[in-house]
Amino acid sequence: MRALFVALLLVYASGSGKVAGANGAKGNRFVCTAVPAGTDLSCPVETTNRVQSTSPQEEELRNTIIQLRETILQQKETIVSQQGTIKELNSKLARCEADVRSRGSARRKDYSKNTMGDLPRDPTESVEQLGKTMQSLKDRLESLEQQLRTNTSNGAFPSELRDLLKRRLSDLEGQLLTRVAELEEEKSQLYNETAAHRQRTENTLNSLLERITELEKSNSAFKSPEDFKVALPLRTNYLYGRIKKSLPEMYAFTVCMWLKSSASPGIGTPFSYGVPGQANEIVLIEWGNSPMELLVNDKVAQLPLSVSDGRWHHICITWTTRDGFWEAYQDGERLGTGENLAPWHPIKPGGVIILGQEQDIVGGRFDATQAFVGELSHFNMWDRVLRPIDISAMANCSAYMPGNVVPWVDANVEVFGGATKAALEICEERLFDS
Ligand SMILES: *[C@@H]1O[C@H](CO)[C@@H](O)[C@H](O)[C@H]1NC(C)=O
Ligand SMILES: *[C@@H]1O[C@H](CO)[C@@H](O)[C@H](O)[C@H]1NC(C)=O
Ligand SMILES: *[C@@H]1O[C@H](CO)[C@@H](O)[C@H](O)[C@H]1NC(C)=O
Repeated sequence: MRALFVALLLVYASGSGKVAGANGAKGNRFVCTAVPAGTDLSCPVETTNRVQSTSPQEEELRNTIIQLRETILQQKETIVSQQGTIKELNSKLARCEADVRSRGSARRKDYSKNTMGDLPRDPTESVEQLGKTMQSLKDRLESLEQQLRTNTSNGAFPSELRDLLKRRLSDLEGQLLTRVAELEEEKSQLYNETAAHRQRTENTLNSLLERITELEKSNSAFKSPEDFKVALPLRTNYLYGRIKKSLPEMYAFTVCMWLKSSASPGIGTPFSYGVPGQANEIVLIEWGNSPMELLVNDKVAQLPLSVSDGRWHHICITWTTRDGFWEAYQDGERLGTGENLAPWHPIKPGGVIILGQEQDIVGGRFDATQAFVGELSHFNMWDRVLRPIDISAMANCSAYMPGNVVPWVDANVEVFGGATKAALEICEERLFDS
């Protein structure tokens, strides 16, 4: 019976748009029409049972009516307060909606006018924010619905309002999704712009590098044909220089060069001369932790030279077939001599001189662990033993003598595998360095 009243009231409430305004009068009238309906039903039953005691019955009936009235009034209050909550929620939704819209347009404006200045805040952040707001609104709606369902046992809830709320919520959801898509788009544009910028920078750098390389190449008309050096920057088995000229048969030789290396352990092979049948006809090598060695016809002499300090050094080695006598000079000073290095052996002609690599066959099969790393210049060879005074004059920059069998000239030296030619520091600079 109480449920019936509530149902009637709810149907009535949901039918009229503004319940709060038309509260009192209509409610009273409603109660007045409702009570006779109730009395009509109960009175005949009660009168047939107990006719004589009318006044206590009336009293009870009056009490019941009063109680019902109170109940209805309470329910009404509840409904009104529920309406209030819904209204509040509605206005919050509207505000949130407006906020989303204005933020969206503000962001777009910022973005278009400011490509170089401040970048927009991280889009993911605001998407997360919106997502949280949405979730909390949804939660609130759900709990409200739950409460209403519990409070009105027959589930007669103003469905129009609920539908409205649902519609607004799904509208908002749609807007949120659109905004998320927009933000994703902006993000991808930003990313693409960064990538494009990086690409442009790389292109500029590459063209600069190309120009520098070209300039260096065109500069390979060095001040004079001998003022260049060969740089072998990496320990590989494919960077090397090659002397175009070969050697004649020789009974003595002097080889001199400037070199600069800080490779360790061992500076590797500054040069090697291989002939058919003897890859190690003449080799200068400092391999691993061994001292520098001179090989002639694959025989070995250890040289007291030490040049791996990263500075320029001038070295000369002389050899003669007579007794296999040799001398080793560093920076114009003779640091060691010896004999019995391939005595009476004539140096064979027609081989290949390689700068920076040790040959296992003529002109090839190099070994990276034996490669020279650093810079080489003024590699000159004579078919005789030079005097100490000639050597020290070259080393102290007071004289320059080109080799009579192999002179150091640009046109005579080829580089391969990334080895490069560059202008040579002036002699005094090398001297000061060493
Ligand atoms: C529903 O009833 C509970 C108590 O039963 C009350 O706390 C709550 O506020 C009511 N819900 C609404 C929306 O009035
Ligand atoms: C960004 O680059 C990707 C891949 O190149 C492309 O699919 C996407 O459409 C680009 N986005 C914009 C906004 O240009
Ligand atoms: C360079 O060496 C030569 C030959 O030993 C010598 O005559 C000359 O004085 C030296 N010059 C200098 C500047 O040391």
